[in-house]
Amino acid sequence: MKIFLDTANLDSIKMYNDMGLVDGITTNPTLLSKEKGDPEEIMGEIVRMVKGPISLEVISTDYEGMLAEGRRLSKFGKNVVVKIPMTSEGLRAVRSLRNEQIRTNVTLIFSANQALLAAKAGASYVSPFIGRLDDIGEIGMDLVSDIVEIFANYDFECEVLVASVRHPLHVIDAAKLGADIVTLPPDVLAKMISHPLTDIGLARFLEDWRKISTSSHPKLTVPR
Ligand code: G3P
Repeated sequence: MKIFLDTANLDSIKMYNDMGLVDGITTNPTLLSKEKGDPEEIMGEIVRMVKGPISLEVISTDYEGMLAEGRRLSKFGKNVVVKIPMTSEGLRAVRSLRNEQIRTNVTLIFSANQALLAAKAGASYVSPFIGRLDDIGEIGMDLVSDIVEIFANYDFECEVLVASVRHPLHVIDAAKLGADIVTLPPDVLAKMISHPLTDIGLARFLEDWRKISTSSHPKLTVPR
């Protein structure tokens, strides 16, 4: 399963990219609004920093506007994927952009039928929003399950990108279902790395080593 970061924060992107954990990035207007600086410059920097697919979202809601924005965003780099909202106008834009070899990620997917139609229109990615379904008392992961099952029956060139991920259990569930990608807020990725027993175990190893280390073995001493 591929891991994307769901952020426009350059420090987080650099840190996790340096660990080799980042297969791509997803952004949206909300995430860009949280960062200081010019959004266009931030988008350009992300596209340069990470080799994998970078989703940049349009803010127009009409077909012509989305098409024009999609064309402009795609010029940021070859790895740009244009993020388009799941609307009728959006699906038209997806088809037209595909005809121009511009990849799209259809966002704000809340039903399996929406995912099916986005794939049929020619999207490269569909983004079901899991946490927001959980928020209203539905089981978001059931949607992922349905989409993965449906896509397995056909030859769509469309990947399931699980979005609105809120905690590490979402990641495990998505992986068990065979979702292609999860896009993670940096804090969820941080939680996946750490475990209290790892911290306790490491502290104990260091403490025990201190008991047997000597000044004649300076390389083996443990800093206090
Ligand atoms: O990728 C979509 C994501 O940014 C939305 O997450 O937590 O606002 O539902 P959330």
